[in-house]
Amino acid sequence: FETNVSLAEAFQNDFAIGAAVNGRTIVSQRDLLKRHYNSLTAENEMKFESVHPADGVYTFEEADRIAAFASENGMKLRGHTLVWHNQTPNWVFQDERGGSADRQTLLARMKDHIDTVVGRYRGSIYCWDVVNEAVTDEGEEWLRPTRWLQGIGGDYIAQAFWFAHVADPEALLFYNDYNESHPGKREKIYRLVKSLLEQGVPLHGIGLQAHWNLTDPTLDDIRAAIERYASLGVKLQITEMDVSVFEFEDRRTDLTAPTADMLRRQEERYGQFFRLFREYRDVLTSVTFWGAADDHTWLDHFPVRGRKNWPLLFDTEQRPKGAFREVVSL
Ligand code: XIL
Repeated sequence: FETNVSLAEAFQNDFAIGAAVNGRTIVSQRDLLKRHYNSLTAENEMKFESVHPADGVYTFEEADRIAAFASENGMKLRGHTLVWHNQTPNWVFQDERGGSADRQTLLARMKDHIDTVVGRYRGSIYCWDVVNEAVTDEGEEWLRPTRWLQGIGGDYIAQAFWFAHVADPEALLFYNDYNESHPGKREKIYRLVKSLLEQGVPLHGIGLQAHWNLTDPTLDDIRAAIERYASLGVKLQITEMDVSVFEFEDRRTDLTAPTADMLRRQEERYGQFFRLFREYRDVLTSVTFWGAADDHTWLDHFPVRGRKNWPLLFDTEQRPKGAFREVVSL
């Protein structure tokens, strides 16, 4: 088998191939990252709580190290993420008496944050996940009731995109979400982005997180989501891909390694996904994995505590898995 080809080379005529990294993995996975990936995203280091832990206090050391690693190695860099309900410190939403900050205060804080963070990486981050996960899951009503929504109102999303556009007029601005291929949530994301575009908001793409597994979502639903989003005339990126070796409903915690059958099914799924992605290469400009190898992924403790999910293309020893061979030989 051909081990000479790298992931990034295999898809060089299609889309960028990215990985989420952190301050540790840019060291422990250095060679793997340099060989196979041509785009990076900071797993946590550019989130609000990491770069802006207190009012007027910005801490960019970790984020800068990741940006430097990307630039030294000629890799693209995606920015993740500016406005989200998670990993955002409480001070943002509070007034000096511990009550809720008012709309004007929240907007001013959002603007200062976006100006500073986007401004710092102008020219090195080409694309930002401006707003993350703003709609509710399937079956629930519409916009997620976050402190951003409660404090500012429904226009907080549009405002975030305008602030980002002013801070870096060249950057591509994305709306990013998960369960993006479930039909009900897909329609909410579609409706949100459509309305932003109709208002003239500078929004250039939709990020499909793609936290998938052996049974969910179906290939048909993924195709339908890509078609639906692409019909808005925006670019699409796969932003946080992983494919757990478990079925959606499987809650087992007793395995110390994936079975041969699980790995075979994972291979098959990855093959189907990348075949589909390649069909949409005109609109799909990047595929980023949420990690590089099974030695470090956020799914080591989520959604089921006490088990790994072995969701990536390289194993815990950073060796190529069957799924890697499947996708590079498509
Ligand atoms: C995750 C990180 O991987 C974890 O280390 C952290 O504890 C929680 O956040 N959707 C997103 C990402 O947009 O930012 C999340 O990253 C995974 C789900």
